[in-house]
Amino acid sequence: MSFKVKDHFFHKAKKEKFLARSIYKLEEIDQKFKIISSGHTILDLGYFPGSWTQYALSKINNRGLVVGIDIQEINRTLASNPQVHLLQKSIDEVHSIADFNTSEFTMNSPFDVILSDMAPKTTGIKLVDQEASLLLVQKVFLLLPTLLRQGGHLVVKVFEGQGPQEFFKQQQKARTFQEMHFLRPKATRSCSKEYFVIGKKYQAINH
Ligand SMILES: C[S@@+](CC[C@H](N)C(=O)[O-])C[C@H]1O[C@@H](n2cnc3c(N)ncnc32)[C@H](O)[C@@H]1O
Repeated sequence: MSFKVKDHFFHKAKKEKFLARSIYKLEEIDQKFKIISSGHTILDLGYFPGSWTQYALSKINNRGLVVGIDIQEINRTLASNPQVHLLQKSIDEVHSIADFNTSEFTMNSPFDVILSDMAPKTTGIKLVDQEASLLLVQKVFLLLPTLLRQGGHLVVKVFEGQGPQEFFKQQQKARTFQEMHFLRPKATRSCSKEYFVIGKKYQAINH
């Protein structure tokens, strides 16, 4: 049986009208590493229900844009904000910037920031879940040359394991980003195996 404890961060999110307690993970990351600025264009992968989108919106200050995708049904309230563009889509269906376009929306330049809080449906089998999480991370990295601008930033969630450790070591060696940081935010549940990787200043030229 799985259940979610209504802890301090759950109540804080409810009180502050955020859609999920995950907001406090991104807030801590952003306060530490200065990822999102006014006017930025942000891609929020696995945005649903939308607390990271809410946070990003508050930081881009009536300028900039947040594009979110998730396999879940679109959060219509959030989508009604003119600075938000949401799509019901899997990362597997994204190959280029044009995959975010619709009849009312056109995106033609790479994003300033990519956020990914995507998590696979967990099975409880550690190695299977780790592998599924790593696959999502690898898809994000494969898309960087088309979706992230030179000098842009990335925040990506991953489950602990040997595979991710090796993968990120390779990325550090390849200097994909000028800086790479690893953080387990305070709002992470104690039973969770997730952590976040923060890539600052994408070196598109190297790839
Ligand atoms: C932890 S939740 C994200 C919470 C969100 N950051 C927030 O603050 O409200 C993870 C999300 O990843 C989404 N997801 C999982 N696999 C995905 C995929 N292949 N493509 C897009 N989204 C995916 C799930 O549907 C889920 O909504």
